[in-house]
Amino acid sequence: MSSEIRKSEIVEELKLGAIPQHVAIIMDGNGRWAQSRGKPRIFGHQKGVQSVRHVVEAAADLGIGILTLYAFSEENWGRPKAEVSALMKLLETYVIKEREKLHKGNVKFRVMGNLERVPVRTRKMVLDTQQYLEGNTGLTLNIALSYGSRNEIVYACREIARKVQSGDLTLEEVTTERFSEHLWTDGLGDPDLFIRTSGEQRVSNFLLWQIAYSELWFSQVYWPEFRKEHFYEAIRSFQSRKRRFGLVLED
Ligand code: IPE
Ligand code: IPE
Ligand code: MG
Repeated sequence: MSSEIRKSEIVEELKLGAIPQHVAIIMDGNGRWAQSRGKPRIFGHQKGVQSVRHVVEAAADLGIGILTLYAFSEENWGRPKAEVSALMKLLETYVIKEREKLHKGNVKFRVMGNLERVPVRTRKMVLDTQQYLEGNTGLTLNIALSYGSRNEIVYACREIARKVQSGDLTLEEVTTERFSEHLWTDGLGDPDLFIRTSGEQRVSNFLLWQIAYSELWFSQVYWPEFRKEHFYEAIRSFQSRKRRFGLVLED
């Protein structure tokens, strides 16, 4: 049996179970993957783009609503200049090269983060792509770029404080729902499934507020080697979980 047929069988089988509406991934391990092959870290980032393609396709096939990918953290600005600019370049190439394919696949594109720090050229390309794919109604591919969750929360607090100060909001109106609306993820809902690759088991300033009740799944696989089957494995694990949200479930 060809691996493509086998994959579509797996997709059909998984679709019989609960499909997470929103999946968030920390794509980690590019540098270590490259270094373990005696290659520069940037080589790992280049290879990682292929994994993005595979996972976007798998998510769309499964009917997942939102796929949030952690592409670059605010802390990552502290990496060597050459690595940072290589990452920006890769992102530019990705959006230019993939735009049509994403459009054909009815994929919507969104970018979130402290974009003021992103080079003008890169920022323009990602925002143009966001605009170009705005009308699509399939999977939303949400890229976290120059993203830091603590800052996201601080900005939300400032915005809310401003509204309270000006009388646009009363203190009583500041609820968890209202707070969520001031985050960059407004309208996306919280991730149901949170994945991190490369064996690290930490959150690294990603979606701190939004993962309150996410199911966590960690993979040993370095991101450049992450393929559809690993993603399916995560979905399968998700389907075996009993989400209780603090309640008592009847058997
Ligand atoms: C993830 O891989 C990609 C980014 C953070 C941009 P890393 O670059 O963190 O690779 P490791 O974790 O050092 O192996
Ligand atoms: C998190 O990975 C950021 C991205 C994957 C974009 P890092 O590699 O930067 O995080 P730490 O340093 O392991 O916590
Ligand atoms: Mg890392």
